Amino acid sequence: MEIKIKIAAAAISLLVIGGCSNNNSLSVEEMDHASMDHSNMMSDMMEGHMNHDQVVSLNSSTGENELKIPSILERDDEEGVVYTVRAQKGKTEIFDGTESVTYGYNGSFLGPLLRFEKGETVKIRTINELDEKTTFHWHGLEVAGDVDGGPHDALQPGEEKVIEFEVTQEASTLWFHPHPEGKTAEQVYNGLAGLVYINDDNSKSLGLPDDYGKNDIPLIFQDRTFDEEKQLNYRAAMNDDGTIGDTLLINGTLNPKLTVSKEKVRLRLLNGSNARNFTFKLNTGDSFVQIATDGGFLNEPVTLKEVTLTPSERAEIIVDFSQLNTDNDLALINEDGSVLLPFEISDQSGVSSRTPGNMNDFSLTKEELELPVTKEIELFGMMNMVTINGKKFNPDRIDFTQQQGVTEVWEIYNKPDMMGGMIHPFHIHGTQFKILSRDGEEPPENERGWKDSISIKPDERVKIAIQFKHKGVYMFHCHILEHEDNGMMGQIKVE
Ligand code: C2O
Ligand code: CU
Ligand code: CU
Repeated sequence: MEIKIKIAAAAISLLVIGGCSNNNSLSVEEMDHASMDHSNMMSDMMEGHMNHDQVVSLNSSTGENELKIPSILERDDEEGVVYTVRAQKGKTEIFDGTESVTYGYNGSFLGPLLRFEKGETVKIRTINELDEKTTFHWHGLEVAGDVDGGPHDALQPGEEKVIEFEVTQEASTLWFHPHPEGKTAEQVYNGLAGLVYINDDNSKSLGLPDDYGKNDIPLIFQDRTFDEEKQLNYRAAMNDDGTIGDTLLINGTLNPKLTVSKEKVRLRLLNGSNARNFTFKLNTGDSFVQIATDGGFLNEPVTLKEVTLTPSERAEIIVDFSQLNTDNDLALINEDGSVLLPFEISDQSGVSSRTPGNMNDFSLTKEELELPVTKEIELFGMMNMVTINGKKFNPDRIDFTQQQGVTEVWEIYNKPDMMGGMIHPFHIHGTQFKILSRDGEEPPENERGWKDSISIKPDERVKIAIQFKHKGVYMFHCHILEHEDNGMMGQIKVE
C-alpha cells in the first residue's frame, strides 16, 4: 500500500509539471510545491488507473532445484596477470526447457567467486565482450579511484583493461557489478554480479564453517520479472522507483533448496536485488547468529530472529542445524512469509564447530564520536526525481573533497516528502565506514561493524565516521539501482 501511494504522488508531480519527466533541472522546492498544490488530485489518482502492479510479492520457492553454487575463479597461468574477468552475453536455462537471454561474467549468468588474501597484490584483466559499454566495479573494496570501476571507467565493446591493487582490508564478503552511467540497473538485472571473498589470518584462525558450498554458502538474492517467453525484459519491467519482480532467484537458481548436514552452516547473504528489501528469518521462529557485516566480522556473534538487508548490503549468519528440530520443514523465509530457501537436512552429522566469542576488534573511538559533522548529505525524492543535496548526478561535478587518510563525520538525512518518503540504501565507494549513530542513538548491535552501505529510513538521520585509504574520485549513491541511474549519485574527490 505504501508503495502505491508513493507512486501516485510521484505521478501527480509529473502530471502537474507537465510531462517533463526527463527534466533533470527541477529543483526540490518546485517538486514539493507541485505536489502540495495539487494534493487534492491524490484521491482521484489512487482510485483511478494509477493502480500500478508494483506491489508485487515474491512467489515462494517450491524447492525443486538444488541451489547452484558459483564456481571459484581459477588463477591464470599467464605471468603477472592473476585473473581474467569477461563481461558476456549468453543464454541460460533458468526455466526447464527454455533459454533466457542473460548477462554474466565468464559465463552466461552471474559470475564466479573471486577469493583474495589480505596483503596480496591482485591483477585482473577485465574484458568487455558485451555489445554495449560497461564497467567493472568492486563493491566494498578499498582501492584507488582509478581501479574502482565507477562510471568514468567505461570499457567500450571489445575493450579490455588490466587493473592492479593490493588487498589491504580484513576478511569480508564483497561483490562486483557493472556501473556504466545510466545503465547499471539494466546490466545488473540481466545478470552481471559476482562475489568477492577476502580471507586473512584472523578469518582462518576462527574455526568458522569454511567448506565452500558445503557449510559456507554464498546466497545472492535477486528478484526478477520474466515475461511470457521467460525472458528478462528490463524495459518492460522497469520502474523508476526500483524494479522489483515476483520471481526469486538465489545464485540464479529458480525455486532453490539447500541440502545441509546437521551442523553449523554459514550463510553469506547478499541482497543483490535492484530494489527489493529482504527481512530474513527462519520459518520456525528460531534464532541464528550474525557474525559479519558488509566489511568484516562483528566483535561477537549477535543473536537475532531476523535480519533486514536493503540492496547491496551483506550479512553473514550461522544457522545451527544440529540444534534445530528437523522433524519440521525448515526454510529461510522473508518477512511476509514467502519461502525463500527451503532446507533439506541430510543424515550426515557434519562437523561440529564452535562459534568463537571474540572475532574482531572493531570499535568506535572517543575521537570519532566527538568529531564535528563536516559533510551533510540530504537524500530526497522518488521515481526519476531523486536528488542528493537537491542535485542530480553530473559526471563533471565534484560534490565533495576529502583528504586521504583523514577521518571525517558525514551526516546523512533522508528527507521525507508529503507522502512520507521511502528507504534509501546509501552506499559509498572505495572504503568501509563506521556507523556512529542513528537518530542520535547507538546503532544496533549487528551494525557495530564495517559497512559500505546503510539503510536509511524516511526522516532518519545517521552519522558515519569515514576515511579513505586511497586517492581518487569515488561515487556515493542510493543503491536502488534505478535511483542511481536516475541521478541519485554524487562524487567525492579524495586527494
Ligand atoms: Cu554496488 Cu556504486 O555500487
Ligand atoms: Cu560500490
Ligand atoms: Cu533511493
